[in-house]
Amino acid sequence: MTTGATAAAGLEGVVATSSKICYLDGERGVLAYCGYDIHDLARSATFEEVCYLLWHRRLPTRAELGDLQSELARARLLPEPIVRMMRSLPPEHTMDAVRTLVSALAHHDPDVGDDAPPASMRKAVRLTAQVGTLVATLGRLAAGGAPMLPDPVLGHAANFLYMLRGERPSALAGRAFDVALMLHADHELNASTFAARVAAATLTDIHSAIVAGVATLKGPLHGGANAEVMKMLETIGEDADDDRVVATVRGMLARKQKVPGFGHRVYRTEDPRATHLRQMSRDLGRQANNTRWFEISQRIEAVMKAEKQIDVNVDFYSASTYHTLGIAVDLFTPIFVVSRVAGWTAHVLEQYANNRLIRPRAEYIGPEYPQTFVPIASR
Ligand SMILES: CC(C)(COP(=O)(O)OP(=O)(O)OC[C@H]1O[C@@H](n2cnc3c(N)ncnc32)[C@H](O)[C@@H]1OP(=O)(O)O)[C@@H](O)C(=O)NCCC(=O)NCCS
Repeated sequence: MTTGATAAAGLEGVVATSSKICYLDGERGVLAYCGYDIHDLARSATFEEVCYLLWHRRLPTRAELGDLQSELARARLLPEPIVRMMRSLPPEHTMDAVRTLVSALAHHDPDVGDDAPPASMRKAVRLTAQVGTLVATLGRLAAGGAPMLPDPVLGHAANFLYMLRGERPSALAGRAFDVALMLHADHELNASTFAARVAAATLTDIHSAIVAGVATLKGPLHGGANAEVMKMLETIGEDADDDRVVATVRGMLARKQKVPGFGHRVYRTEDPRATHLRQMSRDLGRQANNTRWFEISQRIEAVMKAEKQIDVNVDFYSASTYHTLGIAVDLFTPIFVVSRVAGWTAHVLEQYANNRLIRPRAEYIGPEYPQTFVPIASR
């Protein structure tokens, strides 16, 4: 027994597993999926190719990609009871609804009760397809629209925007969203992936492990940060002058508040995903003839760099990007799920394939042992 804590706070720097999925070098700002640099993937791949890569740890052939696209298209339609349940949930807590509905999807899965590797793989594909429809439909219902059937011709990203907005997206918007999904698909042993792997290591089913991931992603220190960024931008206001932008950031720092969208446990340089999202935010703003949110974001970035030497993370420019794509703030974190479900399922499958129960120890820092027990009548 010790009295002073020596365990690494937040498990910082602790290597808790080995994995063939994601390579992360925080010093050099490198992110790669199965050895493929995120910049190459963002330039040339699609979300479906990245899903295949994460699940099978190699890029698909044309035929394999075609098969995956067909499987995803078949699985995109939600079971009717899920849509009914969706309508019965309070509309204002979208992430809570996603958590509940992902859990409910397990009951309607044709492979329910079968946790053998082929069934878990099929469930990974189905979950990835269904979560896109689920989040798009939640967004559509919240905006007062009727659920849209997926369009079999469109890919995953364009289908999401189509089912959300009721019209096919422009090529730029569809591609931007495809890249955003790729950028968020995996990130090594982040908190939600760790949670999913801990759950999977008990040999619980894949839906249960993914629910653990969704629940963990929800927190404002993790996936919830993109929504917090947009709330901060809206508080500053589209018409704010430079003084107001600078004063808001300085005020938050003076109050020792964390500025959402900045800082990272691993990166000591720019988050490589942010590079693409910054560009996307600018390009989409230009297409929409409104670069104001981009400009305010850039100004906040400059102030943070000057005052705290802290870089933006993936969440910062994803806020103005999604906003410019016409997506409501409540959907920002659920969209993270649409993408990260690919990484979570890949990690869960990897955990199943080489499993050992994850059960670390805690350093005890409580009252001295032994304490004298005083019966309740004498206390
Ligand atoms: C991501 C995050 C949780 C990492 O936390 P962490 O590794 O535990 O880092 P710490 O909270 O210990 O921060 C280290 C230092 O940087 C500062 N810092 C980190 N992120 C900051 C932020 N967003 N705004 C202001 N200061 C920040 C801390 O105040 C601390 O400074 P100090 O040493 O002077 O006290 C943290 O940066 C954060 O809360 N960011 C905002 C939320 C966010 O964007 N999350 C999404 C992550 S992808």
